[in-house]
Amino acid sequence: MGIYAIDANLFSLNQETSMADEIQDLLTRNREWAEAMEQNSPGFFQRLMNQQKPRFLWIGCSDSRVPANQITGLMPGEVFVHRNVANVVLQTDLNCMSVVEFAIREIKVRHVIVCGHYDCAGIKAAMDHSTTGVVDHWLSGIRDIWASNKSELDALDEVAAQRKLSELNVREQVRSLCRTSVVREAWRREQKVDVHGWIYGIEDGLLRDLGIRIASADDLDKFNI
Ligand code: CO
Repeated sequence: MGIYAIDANLFSLNQETSMADEIQDLLTRNREWAEAMEQNSPGFFQRLMNQQKPRFLWIGCSDSRVPANQITGLMPGEVFVHRNVANVVLQTDLNCMSVVEFAIREIKVRHVIVCGHYDCAGIKAAMDHSTTGVVDHWLSGIRDIWASNKSELDALDEVAAQRKLSELNVREQVRSLCRTSVVREAWRREQKVDVHGWIYGIEDGLLRDLGIRIASADDLDKFNI
């Protein structure tokens, strides 16, 4: 039934006159969702009022097919989220750094998950130079990763190279995150924060652990990060 509803919405995107209905539909869905949540777990929203104490920070891609809560089966209140094009962690990005600082210093999340995904438009754009504008600057770091691994990537076919670059990008963003002062200071004062590198397959809905789990400054050498 859900799938039919999605199809109907896609169709309605082409109908100028139904635009108002399309928006109204979201508000209607919200009411239904809130009612169902309350029914399944009476007092659910009131309990959320009291505290925000998620154990996880998720840094992922803005891609609509990779919603953090849904693919991990987490409820509201269970994961703090930052998303941008191609899940980039830049130390000059005030947005991302504010999220990381708040999550680690205030919320004290136990795990940070940097999650890339296959079939990422940002990764593809970085490889084929198909974009122009601000996003081109945003993706320049990914082009650098590509250039640094050119011989390995050139040996692969196009799709395999994209998938490999998505994985290398996760590794690079974990590296960048682990070198922020917020993460290093947390480890120095012996706050437990593990940084993980994962990748998500749009094609099968499954998360893959890339085997990167950094729990201390010493681990950076161990994982060659
Ligand atoms: Co993406």
